[in-house]
Amino acid sequence: MTSPATACILDGKLTSQNLLDSLSLELAQIKAQGAPLPKLVVVLVGDDPASQVYVGKKAKTAQKIGMLSELLTYPADTTQAELLAVIARLNQDASVHGILVQLPLPKHIDTLSVIRAIDPKKDVDGLHPLNMGLLMTGDPSACKPCTPAGVMTLLKAYNVPLAGQNAVVLGRSNIVGKPMGMLLLQENATVTYCHSKTADLAAVCREADILVAAVGVPNLVTADFVKPGAAIIDVGINRLDGKLVGDVDFTSASQKAGFITPVPGGVGPMTIVTLMANTLFLYRQGQPTA
Ligand code: GUN
Repeated sequence: MTSPATACILDGKLTSQNLLDSLSLELAQIKAQGAPLPKLVVVLVGDDPASQVYVGKKAKTAQKIGMLSELLTYPADTTQAELLAVIARLNQDASVHGILVQLPLPKHIDTLSVIRAIDPKKDVDGLHPLNMGLLMTGDPSACKPCTPAGVMTLLKAYNVPLAGQNAVVLGRSNIVGKPMGMLLLQENATVTYCHSKTADLAAVCREADILVAAVGVPNLVTADFVKPGAAIIDVGINRLDGKLVGDVDFTSASQKAGFITPVPGGVGPMTIVTLMANTLFLYRQGQPTA
């Protein structure tokens, strides 16, 4: 029999709601001043059901907090040239402050070419090579990728110690793993990246005071991977037998962890609130200063 979890739950739903409340206030102030409102445009190509759910949440959240948003959907057979033309139009449109092209894109479209086409000043995902470079150099004008930035906000909200801690990032994607490590490094953590070729993954993970799992393998991280008292961050969203599960086996890992994120209700809501915050950040960078 398993004993009840002793870990502190890192509640992304609650933390994101508090942040959304303060973003709502900021937007109400902008509106009261009669200034144009920040606008986010989300572009979805194809009919991937998970992506449809995610973009719906993004548009709905923007609406709830009083931000302008538009969802542009295109069929799966949209050509790369057609998508690039949409981006060129959004780049030129002064009423648009943030552009997000939902990933993954259909296989016939080159993702990097699409990301490179987005005006870096409207790149709300922080995925353009220029923004990645700014992030790497610690430039405060960098718009940071939403999921890793959201994870940092969550860790800080719960005062999880970062400086001098061993942080292990499981996964090396451009969208999560790589920027996650950079952000942890900026907070003076000692960062190790792990991936599919890492020898003795469990042993490396057991050294982690902070373990971020972003590999898309359901329940990969079991108690055997967890250092007692560690903070375990689960970025995975996998569908297993009709249920949403993360990359972390919550039941076993939460017996040993000091802090742990649930799925759902952990990192997911933090990604969305960070997208809203990033849109406002880009809007403010583009506004003339008084
Ligand atoms: N697909 C899953 N997460 C994300 C995200 O944060 N940004 C984009 N553009 N696509 C995603």
